[in-house]
Amino acid sequence: MINYGCGRLNVVISGGTSGIGLATAEKFLRDGANVYILGRSVLRGAMAVQKLQAFTDNKVFYVPCDVISSEECKKALANINGAIDILVNAAGVYQEQRLENMTEADYANIFDTNVKGTMLLTQAALPYMYGGGCIVNIASDAGISGNYGCPVYCASKGAVVALSKALALDYAPNIRVNCVCPADVDTPLLRKQLEDSNGGYTMDDMADAYPLGRIGKAEEIAHVICSVASPYNSFMTGAVIPVDGGLTAK
Ligand SMILES: NC(=O)c1ccc[n+]([C@@H]2O[C@H](COP(=O)([O-])OP(=O)(O)OC[C@H]3O[C@@H](n4cnc5c(N)ncnc54)[C@H](OP(=O)(O)O)[C@@H]3O)[C@@H](O)[C@H]2O)c1
Repeated sequence: MINYGCGRLNVVISGGTSGIGLATAEKFLRDGANVYILGRSVLRGAMAVQKLQAFTDNKVFYVPCDVISSEECKKALANINGAIDILVNAAGVYQEQRLENMTEADYANIFDTNVKGTMLLTQAALPYMYGGGCIVNIASDAGISGNYGCPVYCASKGAVVALSKALALDYAPNIRVNCVCPADVDTPLLRKQLEDSNGGYTMDDMADAYPLGRIGKAEEIAHVICSVASPYNSFMTGAVIPVDGGLTAK
């Protein structure tokens, strides 16, 4: 077990029921934190809690929440017992779509979840961060450099990068805000992306693009998120941290 120094803290993770958010919940729980995982699907929430309870003595709580609704964000956070010390905004959607095929509904789905959702949950959390706190937003390599076939997703993650830097300025010195930018990571989101490509490309094809010769694992991103959020990392704010096997170093 790594001691991130987050032991008794209250941690809220949007998208904590799957993939990177779920792996992050596990690491915080192993470190002794109280963890609230948010997502829309009650079934996914129950399955995540069942998996996570193996690592904790009832310190994990599922709270249903659609982050695109300010009312749901406020209601979800009212369930939390005491202050929020750490907020991880990991809820997100990916859609591969060239611009000529993009509809306004596709745009709304991507931007509402990735940008508005990050903004609304953060807004709802601020009143609970009265003792100071830490926010980690999950963007993407696609928010740092361009990527093929997903211009609106890239734009949404670029917005999350910019939002993170601006919030870091507005809420210093009490609240640190940082942005973690993973590249391809083996999660349900990526498996769906591969399915949607109808055999157009495989995980091995993806791996070829990486200096490290493979895509990432959810726990490798989770480790960085927990490290960034750790009180030991007290001098880091406004940072944009690629975790991408060297992809954006090229
Ligand atoms: N996997 C990758 O290759 C990769 C690469 C770069 C960046 N990212 C980013 O990393 C984050 C996590 O991705 P992941 O791969 O772990 O995805 P994932 O396995 O599909 O998990 C996404 C999570 O977000 C939740 N979510 C989606 N829409 C939501 C909404 N409107 N309200 C509340 N929760 C919502 C989902 O739960 P419900 O559906 O039940 O709501 C689920 O818990 C995302 O922001 C993604 O863009 C992923």
